[in-house]
Parts: sequence; structure tokens; C-alpha cells
Amino acid sequence: MKTVIYYFSGTGNTEKVVNAAADALRGHGWDAAACAIERAENVAETVAACGSIGIGYPVHAFNAPASVIRFAEELPAQEQPKPFYIFKTSGEPLALNNISSCKLRAVLEKKNYVFQSEYHYVMPYNIIFRHTDKMAYRMWETAKRLIPIDCADLAAGIPAAKKSFPFGSALAWIMRVEHWGGRWNGKMYSVDESCVHCMKCVKTCPTHNITYENGKFCFGGDCLMCMRCAFHCPKNAIKIGLFNKWKVNGAYSFLPPAAEEEERHKRYCKNSYEKYFEDARRRVLASGGDFPDELRMPAAEEEDDLSARATE
Ligand SMILES: Cc1cc2nc3c(=O)[nH]c(=O)nc-3n(C[C@H](O)[C@H](O)[C@H](O)COP(=O)(O)O)c2cc1C
Repeated sequence: MKTVIYYFSGTGNTEKVVNAAADALRGHGWDAAACAIERAENVAETVAACGSIGIGYPVHAFNAPASVIRFAEELPAQEQPKPFYIFKTSGEPLALNNISSCKLRAVLEKKNYVFQSEYHYVMPYNIIFRHTDKMAYRMWETAKRLIPIDCADLAAGIPAAKKSFPFGSALAWIMRVEHWGGRWNGKMYSVDESCVHCMKCVKTCPTHNITYENGKFCFGGDCLMCMRCAFHCPKNAIKIGLFNKWKVNGAYSFLPPAAEEEERHKRYCKNSYEKYFEDARRRVLASGGDFPDELRMPAAEEEDDLSARATE
């Protein structure tokens, strides 16, 4: 089966996931590729040649980002039903994230694309707070173990849908204020004096929303709030408007940390993420894979102990 996973990834998490998924699907004999939406060419022809398509995105305010909805709206309608599947990432395993594909699915289904499956992986936050390296490592190692299991199901045609949420579509509709709010807030971005004018932000902004003229940066009205500019700024020089307190700067290594780290959100993380890792562990072990103990959330007392040592 020929398939392309069209994806948007602000800061790289979703890109890692869809690349791993394309790899896993190739292992099942699929002719699978991953293609960033912002670099997609000849989409109509490619989609026509595919037996199914995938969409990959990071959850933004319990929705798909505006660029992903726009991409779906521009896809050609199909005469014959064409299956589609979704790979998404989010910073937290919140049940409310289940509503994030409502609009995307509605747009695609109107064009005769038929929903097959949706897969969700928790990856480190690129806004709100910085996860520890240990947590980022745990998330990626977990996703790497889940993706092949999900892709085996996808290749076998086993459907997978997220549990619905009461008033999910209505809630998602309200939360899509983020699409408009992001554009508005984006105009308030600014650059401080630590900027070394490397132009990384200008060159990598997915909507070409950042321009540089006469020694000044201008942030236009087409911001996706994807965080690519601020997250990857080598000098942490970009201020992200009203959300600056939630900014996260610097790529995650996804490697095990070399030293003990201070975990400022340990209680919160324990409560919020433990079930995700335990469910993942059960699935991985049931499929005959390995899930080392280091990928499990430590018991709360042990975590207190580690944090105390890191701050000593
Ligand atoms: C504007 C914005 C809104 C977000 N909203 C959510 C959310 O509603 N739920 C969630 O769990 N994570 C949320 N996140 C976190 C991202 O979904 C998560 O870090 C994702 O893995 C980033 O993927 P990327 O690196 O491919 O952009 C949000 C991130 C941004 C930048």
C-alpha cells in the first residue's frame, strides 16, 4: 500500500513520531513516506496514487493547528472513499485531547476520506513548562515502543478511535479561538538585546511570518503559535507575547540525563502521566516487547528523594 503521512510539527516531536511510523509501516511492506505540510508538492497527484493517507499534528489547545485544518481544506475531494489515519502528539495525556481531531475529521469526511484510526503519543511540552530530560527520554522511548504496535494494527486494517467526549465538538469549536488568538498574540512577539541576528527564526518560521528589515524584526499576523522560533532560538531572545511565562527554550536531547535533575513538577507529573506510562507498559509487554523499569514513573517517595539529591 502506498501512503504518505502529511504532518505539521512546530518543534520536532510530531516529526519524530511520524518518521518512526513511516519506518514501521515500511516494515509491513507499505510504501510509506512522511512529508511536512509546508514542503508538500503535487499533493493531488500523490494522494491519488496513495491507497490511504495519514495526517500528523501536535495538539494545540485541544485542536489540530490551523495549518493542518487549512491543508485538509485544500485536499482534493475523492470520488472513491479514501481511508485516512491520524498520528498526533501532545504534552499531556489529558482525556480532553481526545476531541482534537473533531474539526479535521469533519473536513476530511466531507471530501470522502474515510476515518480509519487515530494514534496519540505524549511528548514533551514545547510551551507551559519544560519537562526534565528524564521525562522527555521516558516519553520518546515509550512512543518508540508503541508506534510499531499501532502500525501493525494499522497495516492489518484494525480500526482505532479515541473515546468520545461529551460535547466534544462544541468544546473543540470554542477552543479553536486559539487559531485566531495565536495570530493576534503573534504580533506581540519581540526580540531582546541578546539576539545575535542569526536569522534562524526568519528562515524556519513555517508561515514566513517573521521578517527582518533595517535591523528590525517584524512579527506579522500569520503566527501558528507553533513555538518553532522561540523554542529553537540559540540565545533564547524571543518573547512570545502574553504567553512568555510559559515559554520553553532549547531542544530536548531525548537521551537519559547525565546527572540527577531537579523536578519542579514532580507531583503534577506523577498524577498526570503515570497512567499513560502504565497503560503503555501493559501494551508493550502484551505484544512481547520490553519496557524497562526506568521508563515507569518512580514512586512518589523515590521521586522526592531524587529531587532532594538534585538540589543538594
Ligand atoms: C499553542 C500550543 C498549544 C498546545 N496545546 C496543548 C493541548 O491542548 N494539550 C496538550 O496536551 N498539549 C498541548 N500543547 C503541547 C504540544 O502538543 C506538544 O508539546 C507537542 O508534542 C508538540 O509537538 P511538535 O514538536 O511537533 O510541535 C500545546 C503546544 C502549543 C505550542
